[in-house]
Amino acid sequence: MFEKLEAAPPDPILALAGLARADTRPQKLDLGIGIYLDEDGNAPVMAAVRRAEQRVLDGEVSKAYLPASGNAAFLERLGRKVFGEGLWTGRRERFGGIQSTGCVAALRLGAEVLRRAGCRRIWVSDPTWPIHDPIFLAAGLEPVSYPYYSVGAAGVAWDEMVGAVSRMERGDAILLHAGCHNPSGADPTIDQWDELAKLLRDREVLPFFDVAYAGLGYGWDEDLAGVRALVEATGEALIAVSCSKSFALYRERTGALYFMSRQAQEVGKVLSNAMSAARTNYSMPPDHGAAAVAELLGDSELEAEWLAELGRMRTRIGTLRETLVQEAFEAGLDWRYLRDQRGMFSLLPLDGEQVVRLRDDFGIYMPTNGRICIPALARIGAGYLAKSCGILSWMKTAGSG
Ligand SMILES: Cc1ncc(COP(=O)(O)O)c(C=O)c1O
Repeated sequence: MFEKLEAAPPDPILALAGLARADTRPQKLDLGIGIYLDEDGNAPVMAAVRRAEQRVLDGEVSKAYLPASGNAAFLERLGRKVFGEGLWTGRRERFGGIQSTGCVAALRLGAEVLRRAGCRRIWVSDPTWPIHDPIFLAAGLEPVSYPYYSVGAAGVAWDEMVGAVSRMERGDAILLHAGCHNPSGADPTIDQWDELAKLLRDREVLPFFDVAYAGLGYGWDEDLAGVRALVEATGEALIAVSCSKSFALYRERTGALYFMSRQAQEVGKVLSNAMSAARTNYSMPPDHGAAAVAELLGDSELEAEWLAELGRMRTRIGTLRETLVQEAFEAGLDWRYLRDQRGMFSLLPLDGEQVVRLRDDFGIYMPTNGRICIPALARIGAGYLAKSCGILSWMKTAGSG
């Protein structure tokens, strides 16, 4: 059976992590990673989440299956937190949701629903998280790129993006990063979100949000302002939510696919399709992470503790960005644009050859597009990265001069 089977190509992110792990140089720096690390290089369990988990364990009386749609309290409380009290309660009969094994499964379920609804094409930002296209392809959709990031302006390539939206067709879907765009760290302003909402509504293009970093950009509500504005204005949307980063629950595979439909009668149809897609794949989601989030969001004291911790993580990312700008300046590099970007990632202005030299000569790991994970830079790492890039930049100039 397996003789003629071809090996699948390695996942680029996981392959890079393997290379970094195998490197024995003490000064090595793995910036390819996609998780929040503290100053000691650990991915800690958040204190409020830990307390919520303990309560779940103490109160657990059964390991019976969850319903196919998942943990109802989790869906309700996370939905309210993501969309905000007004929108969630005001349009409750038009919202539906299914718990998923992280955001990846939510994206996959949403893509399955779209295909079953007759959608053929989904527009994906260029650049984007490299797993988006394979997820959509696996679900039978055709991913097509729209321009998103301008290297020159170090921000959203707004005019080009709007130009692409005007070429989208009725019945297409568009994948949008809710905030803290991965990999660029560049997000639309609230005015741009509003403009986009009008364009998508007019063209009848369905927004499909990926909410993976809420709370790590400007603040929980601020990072979700674009999602809320677009969902309200278009009246029909899919929203994949991850609890991996915002609750540091990575390995508990906790997330949800929400949707808003134009008519309340459509909610059951969408949900039944998402549930049947899940049923023929992993069947039901695991409970632990979702139960902990439900516990946390059901207790105002725990919720406040969690938001404060998320705020400290966000502040630290900002401080590290500033440190890197300063260190880069010392090394003769102007990286001030990093101050205007948000979230865990930004792209460094490096070419492919420089990325390989950083890895080979300095033990600094990042994907070939130059994406760095900011919280993976402890203070000393920022200095080492900036100095190494300064040397490479000087060599390039000297070589071409
Ligand atoms: C944009 C984006 N979406 C989704 C995910 C995956 O999230 P989860 O762990 O919840 O599946 C990631 C993780 O890196 C991501 O960056």
